[in-house]
Amino acid sequence: MESVVDFLNVFHIRASGLSVTLSLFLISLGLLYWYSIYPYSVLSRCGIKHPKPIPFLGNIFMFRQGFFSPINELIKTHGRVCGYYLGRRPVVVVADPDMLRQVMVRDFSTRTCTLCDSNISFYDFIWNERWKRVRSILTPSFSASKMKEMVPLINTATDALMNNLNVYAESGEAFDIHKCFGCFTMDVIASVAFATQVDSQNNPDDPFVRHAQMFFSFSFFRPIMLFFIAFPFIMAPLAGLIPNKRRDQMNQFFINSIQKIIQQREEQPPEQRRRDFLQLMLDARTSKESVSLEHFDSANPSGVTDHRNQQTRPPASDQEHPQEPPTRRPQKKMITEDEIVGQAFVFLLAGYETSSNTLAFTCYLLAIHPECQVKVQEEVDDFFTRHESPDYTNVHELKYLDMVISEALRLYPPGFRFARDIDNDCVVNGQFLPKGATLEIPAGFLHYDPEHWPEPEKFIPERFTPEAKASRHPFVYLPFGAGPRNCVGMRLAQLEIKMALVCLFRRFSIVACTETKTRRPHLVAAQVKMEKYLMRISPTVKVIVSAFRRNHHHTLTG
Ligand code: HEM
Repeated sequence: MESVVDFLNVFHIRASGLSVTLSLFLISLGLLYWYSIYPYSVLSRCGIKHPKPIPFLGNIFMFRQGFFSPINELIKTHGRVCGYYLGRRPVVVVADPDMLRQVMVRDFSTRTCTLCDSNISFYDFIWNERWKRVRSILTPSFSASKMKEMVPLINTATDALMNNLNVYAESGEAFDIHKCFGCFTMDVIASVAFATQVDSQNNPDDPFVRHAQMFFSFSFFRPIMLFFIAFPFIMAPLAGLIPNKRRDQMNQFFINSIQKIIQQREEQPPEQRRRDFLQLMLDARTSKESVSLEHFDSANPSGVTDHRNQQTRPPASDQEHPQEPPTRRPQKKMITEDEIVGQAFVFLLAGYETSSNTLAFTCYLLAIHPECQVKVQEEVDDFFTRHESPDYTNVHELKYLDMVISEALRLYPPGFRFARDIDNDCVVNGQFLPKGATLEIPAGFLHYDPEHWPEPEKFIPERFTPEAKASRHPFVYLPFGAGPRNCVGMRLAQLEIKMALVCLFRRFSIVACTETKTRRPHLVAAQVKMEKYLMRISPTVKVIVSAFRRNHHHTLTG
């Protein structure tokens, strides 16, 4: 302090220690105030309506109870193009399907993490510019022919699921079917992505399962996270330095496991190597096969090839950016070992809960709509007169089951909101979108929009007949996203879900028991868990049902 006073005295400015302290204090306060409010004019300047933000944290407290209902309320109050501030970051919510058609299939292919959880370090590459290269390598891994190679791996997990359900059916006990599906999808994803036979269905204490579950216990409203949101420029560089035993333990476990498997693979003769995703990625280090991003599936939510949706790229004249979209450029091919480890982990994160929640909600809906379950069973019985077991090709014959799953994904979309970064200032449909903001796609809102879905709360699989689909705007149904950044695992998810359900309904009937009715996992009450990148929706309560072996004890009457 004395030195500041001396310094001022040089300029013949009379200053006492106290006045300097006071001035510095007021200046700091002024700067802090400016820092706390200066980002909050962006949305107003673009004419985007939004709730009033609070200094430092924006509108974060709107989301204390989860994201689903507040986003819907926001759109109802402020219109189909509205916004909010997630901390200091402006978010533009677009619930207009025509505008979405434009933004999702063109330049908006980047997505970064706005709320990084410092738990995770080694796979964050996937969300930056390297995404395009890695995705172009991975896309062939999800091709129809590669999917066929996954069928035996999924079959093994399906057999274990059937054995588990059989135990409950024999005992007649009510049970939590969501938990069974959680173990099933964990087995599938570990097997196809990590080449690891975890058998979590029989051993929930498996170290692989234990470490993976650490990911799913992330809390948004921890003090450290709020600090992160308010002062990202201080916290981001420090994130890696803050000791976090859980994170280090988890990272170490997965890095070691995957590196060990890679080493074993290198030592094996090629013909003995297992045909899983890991192997496909290892092959990609040398293979010439690569796909440019324009060949990615566009919005194709039903899983049945929907060519209509593949024509969603806007005509050239529609585009505000005349230059070639980045998605058309051929991608440079190369994948490093770190990227392989990271990608295997992204699969786990993105593929485990999404699929198990879909399975649980589908069974729950069929349990409370037995007339639909009977239809599924009739279709499944008919299917088994022609086929011994489900596979990648023949599951496409199950049209009604596909409609049921589609409707379950409409009512309970696991990824009910996702985002793109706005990399450059642009105008879409006359709306200015500012560089640096996030563009949010509120799939959950669109799935319940009464303009497109009469009686949106009702479970009506017939909404997904080919005729009904053809008459609806394709961008009001986005369970797997759309455009070049849509869900890369969609084919795998649909395959495993259908394989599990076809085997299940061949053998069992799922019946709503008292607990299901009273503890209905209703959407409004559903606890919306926030994961690192995707917001997922999952049942708040256990989905308790009873299983009956069809030919022995119980027949549904419909
Ligand atoms: C029912 C199951 C699933 C649902 C509903 C689902 C939904 C989604 C959604 C909504 C997105 C964001 C799409 C967008 O931004 O346009 C996404 C991205 C992603 N999903 Fe899925 N997903 C499921 C299963 C899976 C599975 C099984 C895997 C992996 C094997 C997977 C891997 C991914 C990956 C890697 C991304 C990021 C893609 C990218 O950024 O390029 N998903 N998923």
